[in-house]
Amino acid sequence: MRTDGQLVVHHVRPGSNGLPLVLLHGFPLDRRMWDDVIDLVPGSRPILVVELPGFGDSPRGQDVAEALGLDPEPSLEVSAAGVVAAVRAAGFERAAVVGLSMGGYVAMAVLEAEPRFVAALGLIDTKASADTPEARANRLRIAEEVERTERLDEVLGMRTALLGETSRAARPDLVERLESWIGDQGPGAVAWAQRAMAARPDRTEVLRGYAGPSLVVVGAEDEVTPLQEAEAMVAALSERGDSELVVVSRAGHMTTIERPETVASVLSSFWLRAGHTVF
Ligand code: MLT
Repeated sequence: MRTDGQLVVHHVRPGSNGLPLVLLHGFPLDRRMWDDVIDLVPGSRPILVVELPGFGDSPRGQDVAEALGLDPEPSLEVSAAGVVAAVRAAGFERAAVVGLSMGGYVAMAVLEAEPRFVAALGLIDTKASADTPEARANRLRIAEEVERTERLDEVLGMRTALLGETSRAARPDLVERLESWIGDQGPGAVAWAQRAMAARPDRTEVLRGYAGPSLVVVGAEDEVTPLQEAEAMVAALSERGDSELVVVSRAGHMTTIERPETVASVLSSFWLRAGHTVF
């Protein structure tokens, strides 16, 4: 794990020409949830996968905040500032920023804090709304429990809950992959991220103010961030910008591993469209 407070950027497709695609993973996972999609995205432009605080090889949220001189309380603003700093350190001033679920929350926080950085916005299986008081209380309970027990039992159920009913019935391999990826994360990262997500505000207004190109993708069987949330984001993004909604059949919350070919295809055309619009 890196300890200097800079988030780890996996420059999975090296190169410096053209608008980079920056991919942000969901909770409680790491860069590997993008692998299937990346393998299917054609072209030679740069793709950067950033690991969020505490996950994969990235440093703890506390260390990211300290390195950037930010409030040490867990927050997605720390994650967002870390993403921008890491991508800039890799040599890019702007990007097509795409996040799944927690990665989407972070992408929206990036948009709010650094609107010039976001040349195009992709939101996959995520939502702009804040947590209900019950959901927030549950996150804080889980954060305390994983810290107290130093075990991930509280989030292991996500190995099935993240998948759609089609995958749950027919793809035991995906359940196994998720179980192994979740099991590789540390309790400290899980607790920090739960507290950060609990503190996030509603960002619908941020989407309303965005005038650039955007893409919203949702699995038709997503029970975590369902279709209505995606439709609300597209409505907000369409007020000033150009937004597209793609509903992926036979997929739940993990479209990137349930239907990678569809996600790769819509991401490629979106990235191409964004590159033409921006440069
Ligand atoms: C995720 O997939 O990142 C999580 O389900 C997000 C959340 O807990 O809200």
